[in-house]
Amino acid sequence: MKKLILILSLLIAGAATAQDNKKSVVITEGPYLQAVGENEFTVVWKTDQDAVAWVEIAPDDGTHFYNCERPQFYQAQFGRKVIGTLHKVKVSGLKPATTYRYRIINAAALKGEKDRVRFTELRGSDVYRRQPYYVTTFDRNKSGISFAVVNDIHGKTTELETLLADAAKRKYDFVCFNGDMTSRNNTQSEVFKFYMSSASKLFAAQTPLVYVRGNHETRGAYATSLPELFPSSTGKPYYSFRQGPAYFIVLDCGEDKPDNDMEYSGLACYDQYRTEQAEWLREIAASEEFRSAPMRIVFCHIPPEIKGWHGAADIHKKFVPILNEAGVDLWLSGHIHKYKLTEAGEDGCNFPVLCNPNVCRLDAQVDANGIDVKIFDVNSTLLHTYQLKK
Ligand SMILES: [Fe+2]
Repeated sequence: MKKLILILSLLIAGAATAQDNKKSVVITEGPYLQAVGENEFTVVWKTDQDAVAWVEIAPDDGTHFYNCERPQFYQAQFGRKVIGTLHKVKVSGLKPATTYRYRIINAAALKGEKDRVRFTELRGSDVYRRQPYYVTTFDRNKSGISFAVVNDIHGKTTELETLLADAAKRKYDFVCFNGDMTSRNNTQSEVFKFYMSSASKLFAAQTPLVYVRGNHETRGAYATSLPELFPSSTGKPYYSFRQGPAYFIVLDCGEDKPDNDMEYSGLACYDQYRTEQAEWLREIAASEEFRSAPMRIVFCHIPPEIKGWHGAADIHKKFVPILNEAGVDLWLSGHIHKYKLTEAGEDGCNFPVLCNPNVCRLDAQVDANGIDVKIFDVNSTLLHTYQLKK
């Protein structure tokens, strides 16, 4: 009996040692920026094993990141740090129009007995051999801004990387993914494989990413969980923000066909969802922040069309009357895979609706007097221009 106990003890000790020697945590995806505002930003990344994670920030003041202890921001829920592989950390209490440096840190969490947790050595983004990441908070007093939009990429990763190869150099205020980045979302790793790994590598660690769900983002086994990758200021896939002279509204279009269509396996209830969203939109349109903005721009993957497919018609019925009354300068969509400009006053909209073609990049410059749009294909050929003057 004593011999058996000894053998068991050795086995348990061996297992503990093996766990202790588990390799250090590795950052496998990201980081990328979400929900950047005047006073906050959120960083998202993944690790190869369960970890507690945090973000450290430093002012852009010329000091080395190791100059002093830096403030730490944890992912926590109701006061308890979250252990997992998907990390979403909100950094708040910041000043507008200010550049900050940040790094991400992970401590792999080894679960022990009775809810005890032990941590392996810390691993984080390098601030010694390379520069830390930079982020600049939004600024309503900035006189002019620029942004890029791509949509309907449908999993063409090489073309996406070509379109956004110079995104970091161009110093956009943000890049918008305006829907249908893939055709189906069956696993979380597909989302990274098809576009989020590319986005993180090319720009999104330092340039804010504005994510807009398309109808194809509502399809596939992972579709219900997909919004977990894109935290927003509202906690929902529809939200709003202000940068420079423009107030931006992101609408979540839902599906394009009626909810009972055979393609949705009986899971769609987007009519109800768009009604709920319209209630939110009504509040936003009445807010002082929206009303006082010199420029107002809407992102919605599906364009409103009175006589279009059900999704487009329901979007028109529920969203357009609110925005017609409130006043909008430009509505930007994709979905139809071709360029289309519906002028203000046509099809029941008091504002222009512009559809960016599939696999093209729309570059926009905005100030209080107007919007200047240029649309390029993957060969950098200028396909379309559009100017709006106020
Ligand atoms: Fe679409």
